[in-house]
Amino acid sequence: MNCMLIMVIIAEQEQIAQSKQKGELLTWDDLAKMKYSWRVAQETLRMVSPIFGGFRKAVKDIEYDGYLIPKGWQIFWVTNMTHMDSSIFPESSKFDPARFNNQASIPPYCFIPFGGGPRICPGYEFARIETLITIHHLVTQFTWKLLADNFFKRDPMPVPTEGLPIQIMPKTNITS
Ligand code: HEM
Repeated sequence: MNCMLIMVIIAEQEQIAQSKQKGELLTWDDLAKMKYSWRVAQETLRMVSPIFGGFRKAVKDIEYDGYLIPKGWQIFWVTNMTHMDSSIFPESSKFDPARFNNQASIPPYCFIPFGGGPRICPGYEFARIETLITIHHLVTQFTWKLLADNFFKRDPMPVPTEGLPIQIMPKTNITS
């Protein structure tokens, strides 16, 4: 994630923080204003989906892309196969939160970090809230520095190769 991107997130979150009294809690309206932060989170979920994929069972014979999938077979859908398909997400290896500017432009069942259909993750909204609240408090109250090379391996889930050691500093201590 580049510096420019972090600066935009900080500006968005600082603006919300400045509109609140000390200790005042975030509201639904505040979350709705965190548009850029959520696009960055979505782009992160697209490129580094925490869930590798999942099983589905064919309830009838299906023909897909010239292949017959017989009734009763198990299918394993893989998140990254869809997320890194450049016919769906152009320049799919590029980190570009702007691809989520127009959510309606993303075809159905193509952004699937939370799965899809009747068994879609029921924690989707809760995960969104947790993510945005964490970003808000992290960037408005702290600065941090990575203490290791920021590589990850797939095992098959994405795992930072050296853990994720960071030095975290409260913003108030820096300015005082
Ligand atoms: C970033 C966070 C999360 C991600 C990426 C995620 C992803 C997923 C995925 C991919 C599935 C399978 C969906 C499918 O088969 O179509 C799933 C299922 C599920 N998730 Fe999440 N999840 C997240 C957070 C949560 C949270 C916060 C909760 C609960 C508070 C939750 C509860 C569940 C449950 C209960 C299922 C099983 C649903 C079913 O089989 O009917 N998840 N999640």
